[in-house]
Amino acid sequence: MRIIVTGSIAYDYLMSFPGSFSEHLLPGHLQRVSLSFLVDSMDKRRGGCAPNIAYTLALLGERPRLMATAGQDFDEYRRFLEGSGIDTSLVKQVDGTFTASFFCSTDRDGNQIASFYTGAMAHAGELDFAAAGPCDLAIISPNDPAAMVAYARECRALGIPYIYDPSQQVARMGGGDIRDGVVGAHIVVCNDYEFEIIREKTGLDADAMLEHAEAVVVTRGEKGAAIRLRGRTIDVPAVAPSAVVDPTGVGDAFRGGFMKGIALGADYQVCGQMGSVAAAYALEHLGGSSHTYTRDEFAARYEQHFGPIAI
Ligand SMILES: Nc1ncnc2c1ncn2[C@@H]1O[C@H](COP(=O)(O)OP(=O)(O)OP(=O)(O)O)[C@@H](O)[C@H]1O
Ligand SMILES: [Mg+2]
Repeated sequence: MRIIVTGSIAYDYLMSFPGSFSEHLLPGHLQRVSLSFLVDSMDKRRGGCAPNIAYTLALLGERPRLMATAGQDFDEYRRFLEGSGIDTSLVKQVDGTFTASFFCSTDRDGNQIASFYTGAMAHAGELDFAAAGPCDLAIISPNDPAAMVAYARECRALGIPYIYDPSQQVARMGGGDIRDGVVGAHIVVCNDYEFEIIREKTGLDADAMLEHAEAVVVTRGEKGAAIRLRGRTIDVPAVAPSAVVDPTGVGDAFRGGFMKGIALGADYQVCGQMGSVAAAYALEHLGGSSHTYTRDEFAARYEQHFGPIAI
């Protein structure tokens, strides 16, 4: 399938704090917050939603095209992505800027406090689907908000079915912009928290979204995912990871697995289950693209939980 993955490309600076953030966020003392957490490890990882999603698709045998902007520090990342089977020819490298950077501390309970520096991502609006060539399925993942709005409009104008995946950008985007992406999407995907924000900001509940979209996928962490279709809901169980090493990129891996299901022409139940298996692998490793598996290994793990599958 000719898939285009849009979204942020970033470097992740991942730190771990051996204590608990909530012990330091004292109710009654939140009017002036000045906290510094002494972290005991730091890793620089390749990140960003778009490469993470594309990485899972490539592990599963697709050759997705990445459409995104990156900075002067992107060369080694591009080599890695190409080496992983991802087509980076649509990635625009912007001179004189850094690739977007995500600084994230995780505490011992898995809670996260993060900052995201936009960098080259601010140029994402300079790319467009009309110039990208033929595409059967696109995903619009967290990115420069104006670019997300523009991509959705382009996809609609060109008749490209798109998965609308605003994720953490729901915090930043206005109701009008979110609604613009949701209305006209082939599929909407978000986690349960984001679903509530979307509902508050746009006034659209799942039924209203389903007047336009074919499916609304709401992920629920270790509780799995609910896939809302017109007239019914499919509950998709999560797959227990052997260990939860790092939650970064778990949602992206789920999306990649889900999209591979679509590429296979599978029904939504199977798409969701493929997402659950892909997510479990991501949870077991630090960062969003340091795990690896063969298609056979993936199929065997899928079969353990959900029955046989041909990938
Ligand atoms: N602890 C877990 N155990 C097993 N599977 C999990 C766990 N957490 C997440 N998953 C899987 O990953 C999917 C997406 O997780 P979640 O709903 O937490 O996404 P998210 O909040 O968007 O994550 P992200 O931190 O990547 O943005 C879930 O539907 C589930 O399949
Ligand atoms: Mg997410």
